[in-house]
Amino acid sequence: MDDEVNFGSIKVPKNSKTKLVSDVFSSVAGKYDIMNDLMSFGAHRLWKKRMCQISRLTANDVVLDIACGTGDIAISLLREMKSIKLTCLDENSKMIALCKERLINQGFISGISYVTNPMEKASFQENSFSLATLSFGFRNFTDHNKALENIYKLLSPGGRLVIMEFTTPQNSISKKIFESYTHKIIPRLGKIIAKDDQSYTYLAESISSYYSPEEVSELFYDNKFSNVRHEVLPGDIVTIHIGFKS
Ligand SMILES: C[S@@+](CC[C@H](N)C(=O)[O-])C[C@H]1O[C@@H](n2cnc3c(N)ncnc32)[C@H](O)[C@@H]1O
Repeated sequence: MDDEVNFGSIKVPKNSKTKLVSDVFSSVAGKYDIMNDLMSFGAHRLWKKRMCQISRLTANDVVLDIACGTGDIAISLLREMKSIKLTCLDENSKMIALCKERLINQGFISGISYVTNPMEKASFQENSFSLATLSFGFRNFTDHNKALENIYKLLSPGGRLVIMEFTTPQNSISKKIFESYTHKIIPRLGKIIAKDDQSYTYLAESISSYYSPEEVSELFYDNKFSNVRHEVLPGDIVTIHIGFKS
């Protein structure tokens, strides 16, 4: 049915997904950072570094960090170029509050604003950002096309969108190892550390039901982006996509 969307391994009515995803992130917010380090053995820091390199930040960039979470990408970008103007957007008020607190604690105060809204509903002035970044958030979205349409509008001509997401490995042995790690070990870690195995079961299932890198490229093209390309990072479990507004 058209009005049903994936929520992990199950289908749910489209109008209920954003709230269900929000409940997941409200539940894990306080343990989000430590879980990222544990689940990825710290590798998420290297992936995020690579994403920032691919973003090719310049001093005058006006950046929207979408699904900013607790602010990892925002902090990396600001450390690289303090002069940028940055808007952090997230659908979840707990995550964005943690992001704001972290940025302020690290002395990043001026030129930064915060928006609590799903990307599908967010409306910004057209052509007002030169870069949009979106790390590990896209697979949780309810309406990927609507979000991309909104992002395209807010980018200025020549502006770029960089999305990083998990990928299920192509190789059958790697796929088996990855799936048993994400479906069995991660929920157990979630139970011990965050006292919540269900949210981490959702996170694992949301990777399995997510698009392939080629399908994401198609979505970029369908939403008018040009010069679309992607890089699968070593390990075959993370892909970074980039596309430009003509
Ligand atoms: C896995 S976290 C990623 C956080 C951060 N970007 C990172 O890489 O660590 C996903 C984030 O996406 C946010 N999110 C989920 N659906 C969203 C939507 N439709 N619009 C904006 N943010 C959303 C969640 O609230 C959560 O903070």
